Amino acid sequence: MKYNVVLGVTGGIAAYKACDIVSRLTKKEVNVDVIMTRSATEFVGPVTLQSLSKNKVVTDMFDTNFYWDIEHISLAKKADVFLIAPATANIIGKMANGIADDMLSTTLMATKSKIIMAPAMNTVMYESPAVQENIQKLMQRGVIFIEPLEGLLACNDIGKGKMQDPETIVDTVIHHLTLTNDLEGKKVLVTAGPTIEVIDPVRYITNRSSGKMGYQVAREAVRRGAKVTLISGKTSEKIPYGISEFISIESAEDMYQAVITRAAEMDIIIKSAAVADYTPSQKSQSKIKKSEGDMSIELERTHDILFETGQQKRKNQILVGFAAETDHILKNAISKMERKNLDLIVANDVKKEGAGFGVDTNIVNIIDRDGSVTELPLMDKSMVAKSLFDKIMELYDDSRDDRK
Ligand code: PMT
Repeated sequence: MKYNVVLGVTGGIAAYKACDIVSRLTKKEVNVDVIMTRSATEFVGPVTLQSLSKNKVVTDMFDTNFYWDIEHISLAKKADVFLIAPATANIIGKMANGIADDMLSTTLMATKSKIIMAPAMNTVMYESPAVQENIQKLMQRGVIFIEPLEGLLACNDIGKGKMQDPETIVDTVIHHLTLTNDLEGKKVLVTAGPTIEVIDPVRYITNRSSGKMGYQVAREAVRRGAKVTLISGKTSEKIPYGISEFISIESAEDMYQAVITRAAEMDIIIKSAAVADYTPSQKSQSKIKKSEGDMSIELERTHDILFETGQQKRKNQILVGFAAETDHILKNAISKMERKNLDLIVANDVKKEGAGFGVDTNIVNIIDRDGSVTELPLMDKSMVAKSLFDKIMELYDDSRDDRK
């Protein structure tokens, strides 16, 4: 496995969520070594975490049947990221004040890796001056905190203190594990998800886009150090970690306004959203009642946002479109790329199983202006996003001045 995460689990009710975190990380081929405090073992059994991580769970400083190396030093060195989830007020306090009195706090003190903490505690504790001062102190030392959520806590109080959900925690860890800086200083705009065209207060026209593809593109841009604006239709996806600006839109017109007002300042624009080409000419203010016979709705053209962005494209700006096709995939995609003045187009055959709308995978061809086609097999949308940015980096390596 490429990356090693050491996960410190401390004693709070959220300790059971550590199981989900381990499971999600191992599915992403991350090796996880778990260290539990004694109180954490009261909330979740080490055997569960051992089975999920496929590594021995360390709970005792004096257990010598394991590594030949001094254990806390060996794990401290091994960690690419050291995650504490849940992080109690106690471990935050110990770390801020240089206390190392058990396996976890000792290993933490001995590590040079990036440390990420996901606090979980009662609201009053979380907001107490002691905890807040400790968090500030650790942040100044470069520790990353994943803010807790507001909600109903185990103690029945309502407020901030609920540990972030495992998906967001894993997203943050993966981001820090895979961080590069090849897009540092670049501004990237990504569109994602579907648009909604209102017919009346209860009905609308939309499409099957889930936003998964676009969100992976945005995630990859953040991972490469870019400043990312994500303009998104309604989706159930979580806003990716590290996005600089997130704009939620409904209609094609909303998306047009959001893109066109920002396009000029962007270095790279990637349009993976599925935008309506037509919208009802009249939007009824009241529910349309059914009546005898058939009915028809008159539709009018929306702005072709990509086309207009292509018309205004600056020198050295990279513009990427997606093409959702069912027939003549390459021919249609190439014609879109030329008509819309794009640098690259990502063509997906949305009829293929595992490709296109709503799934975690895609099958695409990335086509450039020289006509070269990179054919990618079925792969996770995160890998499609990675390949797309590899291609974009190749464009940066080339001289593109004559492409405009
Ligand atoms: O969101 P997922 O469920 O993960 O699905 C991913 C996806 C299938 C939506 C994605 O991979 C994809 O193909 N997105 C583009 C879908 C689309 O609208 O294709 P199109 O061929 O109709 O449009 C071509 C390009 O023009 C697209 O970049 C689109 O964003 C853009 N466009 C289209 C219409 C319009 N009025 N304005 C536009 O800018």
